[in-house]
Amino acid sequence: MAVKIAITNQKGGVGKTTTAVNLAASLSKTNRSVLLIDVDPQANATSAAGLSGSDCLSLFEFFESDKKIENFIIDAQGGYKIIPGNQNLVATEKQIERSQHREKFFSNNLKVMEKNYDYIFFDCPPSLNLLTINAMEYSGKVLVPVQCEYYALEGLVTLKNTIEQLNASRGLRIEVVAILRTMADWRNRLTREVSEQLEKHFKKLLLNTIIPRNIRLAEAPSYGQSIVDYDIKSLGAEAFLSLSGEFIRKFENGKKNIAK
Ligand SMILES: Nc1ncnc2c1ncn2[C@@H]1O[C@H](COP(=O)(O)OP(=O)(O)O)[C@@H](O)[C@H]1O
Ligand SMILES: [Mg+2]
Repeated sequence: MAVKIAITNQKGGVGKTTTAVNLAASLSKTNRSVLLIDVDPQANATSAAGLSGSDCLSLFEFFESDKKIENFIIDAQGGYKIIPGNQNLVATEKQIERSQHREKFFSNNLKVMEKNYDYIFFDCPPSLNLLTINAMEYSGKVLVPVQCEYYALEGLVTLKNTIEQLNASRGLRIEVVAILRTMADWRNRLTREVSEQLEKHFKKLLLNTIIPRNIRLAEAPSYGQSIVDYDIKSLGAEAFLSLSGEFIRKFENGKKNIAK
């Protein structure tokens, strides 16, 4: 069974997409089969994967069609599979609203493909809309990338409270399983302070791997490449390879034969 994780933070520009594409690519390098689903209408993960959102079919077209989900899964440059995003995903909220179980729309429609993957990631939009809620409900697990700056903790607490409220009011079982520090710059006092606060308040959830601010990570998407393909020697690549190792230890503990 796939490890399913929604990469979520209601704030934009915190490193969700960078985490999604580079973690997917890094895990692929260790022979895991990985599927990334882009549910952000801005489709940044799709272009970072070397594809153009405007030429691609997304979950929107899947939900409108009678075709099998396999027809919407394509190869990304980084060695993983992707269901691309495109701007039509804005209308997917309407598709979901028309259904009976609004929070379980993804679960009711996407379950079939799980057996084919070791990991399924969702790159979520920067809001807690129905797309994000469905991605979180389907996955059960949430990874929150956090940029070490002012209001990062407030944002994290808000997200956790919202998830708890959703769980209580709609009978869901969504759990924040990991917090990832992104864009860390140790010369910056704020990075150190916020990082310390996170260690104090979220010790159990905080991943050991920290993603540094690294220009190569910002450059790679414009070549449609993951950091491990773009510059394997960069600090960014080192961090994502170490993150994939931490994921394997954290989520595959005791599981055998997962590597194909
Ligand atoms: N570790 C990093 N070092 C340098 N630039 C980064 C890093 N992480 C993200 N960026 C850049 O910051 C911007 C926002 O990151 P992104 O992953 O798109 O955030 P989100 O998906 O949360 O909106 C992008 O231009 C991205 O290339
Ligand atoms: Mg994004």
